[in-house]
Amino acid sequence: MSVQRESMHGMWSGRLAFILAATGSAVGLGNIWKFPYIAGENGGGAFVLLYLFCIALIGIPIMMSEVMLGRRGRQNPINTMRTLALEENARPSWHWLGWMGVIAGILILSYYSVIAGWALSYFKDAVFGTFDGISAETAGSHFGGLVGSWWVLLLWHTLFMMMTMFVVSKGVRGGLERAVTLLMPALLVLLLIMVGYAMKSGAFAQGMSFLFDADFSKLSPESALTAMGHAFFTLSLGMGAIMVYGSYLPEKVSISKAVISIALADTAVALLAGMAIFPIVFANGLEPGSGPGLIFTTLPIAFGQMPFGVIFASLFFLLLIFAAWSSAISLVEPAVAWLIEKTHISRLRASVLMGLLTWFIGIGTVFSFNIWAEAKVSGKTFFDWMDYLTANVMLPFGGVLIAIFAAWVMRKESSSDELKMGAMGYSLWRFLTRYLAIICVLIVMMKVTGLLDLVLAKAGL
Ligand code: PFF
Repeated sequence: MSVQRESMHGMWSGRLAFILAATGSAVGLGNIWKFPYIAGENGGGAFVLLYLFCIALIGIPIMMSEVMLGRRGRQNPINTMRTLALEENARPSWHWLGWMGVIAGILILSYYSVIAGWALSYFKDAVFGTFDGISAETAGSHFGGLVGSWWVLLLWHTLFMMMTMFVVSKGVRGGLERAVTLLMPALLVLLLIMVGYAMKSGAFAQGMSFLFDADFSKLSPESALTAMGHAFFTLSLGMGAIMVYGSYLPEKVSISKAVISIALADTAVALLAGMAIFPIVFANGLEPGSGPGLIFTTLPIAFGQMPFGVIFASLFFLLLIFAAWSSAISLVEPAVAWLIEKTHISRLRASVLMGLLTWFIGIGTVFSFNIWAEAKVSGKTFFDWMDYLTANVMLPFGGVLIAIFAAWVMRKESSSDELKMGAMGYSLWRFLTRYLAIICVLIVMMKVTGLLDLVLAKAGL
């Protein structure tokens, strides 16, 4: 039984438009800023392998589920979940899943915007040639100088939030579709140039071995959680962003093919970023586990040494800003779509309201790098907590609920009707979603909270 619903926010012009927009959401700071620094903090190879495993066996099936739910419901995540639950004779309280997503999106954007602000500031520096011939030491102190002053960070954070809300207020289609078509391929080319430079920089072999030689003794339960959480974060899963984009997806597009292309593009960008950065890290005697500042303290050194460095640096930070921008838009779109559907206020007004709320929460992250840097709870700053709670708790939890709904609550006829795959593909999706994805996420979560050891001990194992 095919369900014919229309989204009140419009539709993508076709398959490519959806792939580009979803890739725009997926590829962002997560790939270029976060992946290298968490890979560095968690020892490299084994972590990377686990992350790839999570993308393939957990991320892709859950992403297919999320797009499918979005397309079938055709509303914001909260109303989509309520409608679908009623349709499947389940409890309408499933709409809480939508709520969690809306909240997670706002919390993520609150800090995402601060980091995107760093990229804005570095773009300005790149254009003015600040990185010309910069040493590793100066690059470090330059970064320290930026994050040390809260009002500068606040300024850039404010600018980025205004840019984001501007696009959201116009509606995510149109401008976004066009921008992403051009910028994603450009980003890929620039990353390839950076990898080419890294190959010549001397420490390429060391960088590659750090990134790809797996030593599982370096892997703790916490790093497993980080790798898994990052698979959700980088694919924009578990919070309704992809569900909202799926709700604008035309009926005839194949969800599985679209999702696989998005995941491949996203993974390629992250791996290329890693391959560009770690050789520079080792060639300059820097610390791979130095944290969130990693790309900002390493890439300028490379730009400072290469020919036409000013141009490459400007281009790189510009593209990074665009990548962050297209992701940021998808982070608030669920909240804005919900507010419009709920209150019928204008898109502009809804965008301003959500923008202000997110901006305000972001101030906590701004302070985390300076005046609140020592104000830690269990060793984590405000920013650390935001990141941990969203990426490592809310997204995987949301993802599991999406998987449970798609593969356990929804009837087989509904999901096979919506996914329209061959029998083999459908069975594989169903097996991965119904069992593997859910069990893996739960095991990692139980291990980190100590619950798993408790259960095993009780069982006498
Ligand atoms: N996937 C984005 C990135 O890797 O930068 C971040 C993100 C966007 C996470 C949208 C979640 C989301 F809903």
